[in-house]
Amino acid sequence: MEISTTSNPNPVSDERLAEILADPGFGTFFTDHMFVAEWTPEQGWHNTRIEPYGPIALDPATAVLHYAQETFEGMKAYRHADGSVWSFRPEQNAARMARSSRRLAFPELPVEEFVAAVDALVKIDERWVPTANEGDEKSLYIRPFMFASETFLGVRAAQHVTFMVIASPAGAYFKGGVKPVRLWLSESYTRAGRGGMGAAKTGGNYASSLAPQAEAYEKGCDQVVFLDASEGKYIEELGGMNIFFVYADGRLVTPETGTILEGITRASILELAAKRGLKVEERKVAIEEWQQGVASGEITEIFACGTAAVVTPVGELLWDGGSVATPAGPVTTELRKTLVDLQFGRAEDAFGWMHQIL
Ligand code: PLP
Ligand code: COI
Repeated sequence: MEISTTSNPNPVSDERLAEILADPGFGTFFTDHMFVAEWTPEQGWHNTRIEPYGPIALDPATAVLHYAQETFEGMKAYRHADGSVWSFRPEQNAARMARSSRRLAFPELPVEEFVAAVDALVKIDERWVPTANEGDEKSLYIRPFMFASETFLGVRAAQHVTFMVIASPAGAYFKGGVKPVRLWLSESYTRAGRGGMGAAKTGGNYASSLAPQAEAYEKGCDQVVFLDASEGKYIEELGGMNIFFVYADGRLVTPETGTILEGITRASILELAAKRGLKVEERKVAIEEWQQGVASGEITEIFACGTAAVVTPVGELLWDGGSVATPAGPVTTELRKTLVDLQFGRAEDAFGWMHQIL
């Protein structure tokens, strides 16, 4: 892949960058450059470039603005103590974007090109990769995305597609850092149905989560829990993360329904937990199992996980008419530490998951 580069003539000053990296928040500040590639049926992927970060002009009839033909990914670059910079299982993000692309009727971007695009952006904006301190785990959040950029109001797969990568320094996703979150059980909204887009990472799934997420905020909760669309009985996932249940007998259980977004963090935790001797189960989990399991002491800990959330303990579940609380516990803490130590190069990478960028 030939990438042409136009350097930003006005990069953020070192002083301003230091201020930003001291308290980056999540998804607020963006690096000096962005990666762009375009696709047409005749030319395939072409016009591959890095240019100064900035607004893009779109015709009002651009298809994505009307029919939401869009997919995205979320991943991070981590700075290790020796100054080197690494990503975590980037080929998994590339493969998931390809699966999302098939569902959204997009052309596929080859795995190597996806990884090369991310690497190229991180390399040019290297100074934006924060130095992490144990506990704050700052990193550079990377957002690859693809959208229907054809100017056409007919409803069909776009014949002009744009792929971009932007990046944003990130601290903890939830305000207040790593502390137990409260979840709101949505009984009136669902996220995905059979044959729908639940397993794809596409903007529409997040648009549909916003009303229930607003309901969650009103109830004093941080995230919404979705149940399956057909029976309203089985736990799927949260608005932006997967969920795990720790059992007193040493099992670690996570929902599998065919309609969730299968997280790379989720897959990694399943492997790390199995290696540590936990018995892992991917299966349907009924909401009563949560409510009753905590009450009976069978479920001892619950945590959410994802690229943005890393591993976050779940402190409480609220629903219309009740609530159930879980304490933060040692299994969550240990799995979190195992994962972040690996990502930040503080532990041996026994699975070969880290990819060096610089
Ligand atoms: N589920 C949803 C709906 C998400 O948005 C995310 C975040 O990307 C995840 C799960 C976790 O996926 P990953 O671990 O790959 O970040
Ligand atoms: C991610 O974890 O990468 C996501 O896309 C989730 C979103 C809540 C930021």
